[in-house]
Amino acid sequence: MQFPESTLARFAKEVAKYPADQKQSAVMACLAVVQHEQGHVSVEAEAGIAAYLGMPAIAVHEVSTFYNMYNTQPVGQFKLNVCTNLPCALRDGDQALAHVCKKLGVEPYGTTADGVFTVQPSECLGACADAPVMLVNDRQMLSFMSNDKLDELLALLKANAEVAK
Ligand code: FES
Repeated sequence: MQFPESTLARFAKEVAKYPADQKQSAVMACLAVVQHEQGHVSVEAEAGIAAYLGMPAIAVHEVSTFYNMYNTQPVGQFKLNVCTNLPCALRDGDQALAHVCKKLGVEPYGTTADGVFTVQPSECLGACADAPVMLVNDRQMLSFMSNDKLDELLALLKANAEVAK
């Protein structure tokens, strides 16, 4: 993939933070730049980043598929990551994910037909004592998500999505 000059300038700014012989250290930042601009990181974009940083495309793919925050497929306006790792699973994390999926009519990793929500299970978000825990759009952490709180959240986000359109 060929990136526009503006994207390459952002890549260069990230690469400049590392020693000249370690520009591959900027791989996560470059992935974040592409996702910010394109909404997700395609295989073609990974190849473009790999070429820019002088590293194998598979090494870039290993990074993009290791972290929940990178979208390797297009996602909805609101990406909901519900933690189902063991400590949360023992305190209704699985149930919270099932509730969200049922409420939105999607399977895990699915996106609603209107493109508003994508629902994904998540690995540990570092707040195990607050289970059920979830993350909205990789930024906002929400704790103690009972079914009632999940219902409130979905209604609020849906209302905001309609305002945004
Ligand atoms: S296991 Fe869910 S936040 Fe740690």
